[in-house]
Amino acid sequence: MAISRAGFRSVSWAGQFLASSRASWRCAPCRTTTRPATTIRPRRFATAAADSTSKKPYYVTTPIFYVNAAPHVGHLYTMVLADVIKRWRTLIGDNDAQLLTGTDEHGMKIQQAALAAEMDTQAFCDQNYKTFEALANAANMDYNYFIRTTEPAHKEAVQYFWEMLSHRGYIYTAKHEGWYSVSDETFYPQTQVQKSLDPETGHTKMVSIETGKEVEWSSETNYHFRLSAFQERLLDLYKTGFITPSIYGTNVFNSVSEGLSDLSISRPTERLSWGIPVPGDNTQTVYVWLDALVNYLTKAGYPFAPGQGSSLGWPADVHVVGKDIVRFHSVYWPAFLMALDLPVPRNVLVHGHWTINREKMSKSTGNVVNPFFAINRFGVDSMRFFLIYQGALVGDADYDNAYIIRDYQKLLQKGLGNLAHRAIGCAKGNLRSYIENGTSGRLPAATLADEEYEAMLKEVPNKVAELMDNLNPRAALQEITSLVDQTNKYFHHAEPWKNPIDRQRSLYNVAESLRIASILLQPVMPTKANELLDMLQVDKTDPAKRKFAAARYGSDLDYGANAKKSVLFPPLIVES
Ligand code: MSP
Repeated sequence: MAISRAGFRSVSWAGQFLASSRASWRCAPCRTTTRPATTIRPRRFATAAADSTSKKPYYVTTPIFYVNAAPHVGHLYTMVLADVIKRWRTLIGDNDAQLLTGTDEHGMKIQQAALAAEMDTQAFCDQNYKTFEALANAANMDYNYFIRTTEPAHKEAVQYFWEMLSHRGYIYTAKHEGWYSVSDETFYPQTQVQKSLDPETGHTKMVSIETGKEVEWSSETNYHFRLSAFQERLLDLYKTGFITPSIYGTNVFNSVSEGLSDLSISRPTERLSWGIPVPGDNTQTVYVWLDALVNYLTKAGYPFAPGQGSSLGWPADVHVVGKDIVRFHSVYWPAFLMALDLPVPRNVLVHGHWTINREKMSKSTGNVVNPFFAINRFGVDSMRFFLIYQGALVGDADYDNAYIIRDYQKLLQKGLGNLAHRAIGCAKGNLRSYIENGTSGRLPAATLADEEYEAMLKEVPNKVAELMDNLNPRAALQEITSLVDQTNKYFHHAEPWKNPIDRQRSLYNVAESLRIASILLQPVMPTKANELLDMLQVDKTDPAKRKFAAARYGSDLDYGANAKKSVLFPPLIVES
């Protein structure tokens, strides 16, 4: 896979200046301002046409993955979701769209995992990040950059970011007491922890109510960020539909309405040494989440030279995140950025979790599916299709090989593959002449069924575009699979095999449907969709023929000559 890194470049620190204004912040009693619960309207997104005046590259990110253990199918899902959005933007003509992925390599969790593996921590990261990079490649992600938080450029970006926060008066030292979860890398207040009996040891431990992860009491002096100063601005931000789907936005809105406490953003080095030192204070290490979130800026060229942020991609258009990390991305992250008067991301797209037997797939519990095995067994495009088709943005989705086999056989093999096979076969080498007749208005008159079918087909690309603009790849894919299903029914009723010449209108319509569906399927199944376009002899030397603008009924005058059927989705070898 060719990986272009052209869109990102690092900017030297020269020309940077310290912002002079000391931002105002609100006193502690104001933190508890409460607001009535609000329903948040989903944000509508700019269309490609509306974007064409803007120079900023469209910028999508995945979360960066902890390297403490190997990736699983949940991580693959996040990667594919972000990749589908990036590829969609390329399809509609944003040729400089950027996708960032990478690894989160600092913090207590990694420090402890390296210790347990009896490895030097850097060597441990150097070894483990490769598996995530290999997965991004195996998943056929069209990423532009793979960031590691141990890179020198990132360390510089974080330290500069810290210095700016400090300079503007948003950082202070205070004693901090609370329950820390190494697994979640976060503090929990007393109200969010409970006792839990560990069945293995019989001992009682304290755990987070939300995640069930063990917490330990910690009392230390560290640096704090004045998060409480941002409550009002954050609430205003949520009203713009910053978080998609809106249900997550409503939850965050309600939670922030109840008040915000300031945030501990460092740990004493004696407890956490594996991280970025606080500038000017080697006794403290930067909190891993502050470090990690800045990765999105690092690769957009932060620290920005004056006026340069947007030309390099910032603000991000979409941060794709799992529902367990919404708070970090929709409360802490925009507040940090607001503190520096940096533009906030345009959207946080949240997805649900993959479960096995209804339990969250998780490295720490060990109930995980190896994504490399799944890709090897079912093929990368089939896996990408399955994850997007069944993966839930709201709610969770249960993972089972039987579901993958079911969807493959029904939707890909019998649905799309068989339709292409039958339609090309039925045209008996004359597809090109039917297409010529279709594009020059020489087809037999339309029946009522033809008219209804053609009206539906003409609408599909618009619907798919609207759903993708609203960041709902799953619904967009369902629209395409529904088109394939309706086309199979239309083909069945039209019975063109009885008289292909008289019924050539239906063969033309089915060819158009296959061509349009394949163009639209490229973000989800880049290889298979292009194989189908090749099968239909859609000119591969002219990239415009496979872009979204070509997914219009009757818009390609040239395809179909020598179209030959072949097996797109071979039978799966199903293990007993
Ligand atoms: N390192 C942080 C993210 C920092 S982003 C600035 C982190 N890493 S993680 O490796 O634990 O998780 C990475 C992503 O994988 C998260 O979005 C998380 O929600 C997602 N998933 C982890 N388990 C998952 C499932 N079982 N299902 C779907 N996604 C899952 O969090």
